Amino acid sequence: MRIGMLTSGGDAPGLNAVIRGAVLIGQTVHGHDFIGLRDGWRGLIEADTMPLGRNEVKGISKQGGTILGTSRTNPFEGRGGVDRVTEVMTELGIDAIIAIGGEGTLAAAKRLTDAGIRIVGVPKTVDNDLDATDYTFGFDTAVQIATEAMDRLRTTGDAHSRCMVAEVMGRHVGWIALHSGMASGAHAILIPEQRTSMEQIAAWVTSAASRGRAPLVVVAEGFTLDSMDDPHSERGLDAFGRPRLGGIGELIAPLIEERTGIETRATTLGHIQRGGTPSAFDRVLATRLGMAAVNAVTNGDWGRMVALRSTEIVTVPFAEALGTLKTVPQSRYDEAAMLFG
Ligand code: F6P
Repeated sequence: MRIGMLTSGGDAPGLNAVIRGAVLIGQTVHGHDFIGLRDGWRGLIEADTMPLGRNEVKGISKQGGTILGTSRTNPFEGRGGVDRVTEVMTELGIDAIIAIGGEGTLAAAKRLTDAGIRIVGVPKTVDNDLDATDYTFGFDTAVQIATEAMDRLRTTGDAHSRCMVAEVMGRHVGWIALHSGMASGAHAILIPEQRTSMEQIAAWVTSAASRGRAPLVVVAEGFTLDSMDDPHSERGLDAFGRPRLGGIGELIAPLIEERTGIETRATTLGHIQRGGTPSAFDRVLATRLGMAAVNAVTNGDWGRMVALRSTEIVTVPFAEALGTLKTVPQSRYDEAAMLFG
């Protein structure tokens, strides 16, 4: 079979390991050949391709980013649609597609599969919020990078007796905040799933400072304050009524300083969490997912996504993988919070 492969949506460390795992096993074991589709669905809609064989994947599993490029192009917008996808696949002789991406990519893949296009999915997001898989590759690397950054923030916080606020990724869920916060011994972890008042945050910070610690507050980018604590948020203003420029870390740092009297600084880690070399765990997981995706293609398991369940790689229907976010359970948050005070 000729397999088109694409990476779509925000990148995650491990994408190249998926591509390598799929190509190596696909060529040598199953005799498939591959064609790279550049920049996600855009490459498919515009027939923009690149060669993808053993030479192209040599040594790439340790590289961050994706050799195929990525974009947030939706295959149903602009020139796209089922007819265009079918036309390009026929023109390029592509029998099936492996689509590596997050919620948006898999939703588009489901729509295309429902219309008869042969697609297998590979889940991807550093946020680890896809429900059908135990872990997504990229998450472990992001947590490692965030943890290292917090270790550094703690030494400068200690030197100046300051409270340090670290904002990490996590638009909808707080997995990166929870894990990096626990790993670095944070005194408060703030996540979208858990309502937390400024009064509570200030109490944790004060308690840490009273024990001679420089308080470390880890906040996921999707965390929001109650309207009582952040009365201007709906109008795009910060809690002091000024135009809101930064993220939630920048917003709460002055509020902490105001309530506790402790000088406070905010750092947003941003895309550093998604860049650079993947951890060994992510490389192994990604490679196994790539290999399993090719097996699924070989078996004709269309409309399914490969997933990690315990230690095994399985396949699940797209429908099962979509719709429900994997949020941080209350018990996991409570467990972490026991260490704050
Ligand atoms: O979905 C993964 C994620 O890393 C989010 O945590 C973050 O909000 C978003 O992507 C950033 O996306 P972009 O790269 O488009 O700025």
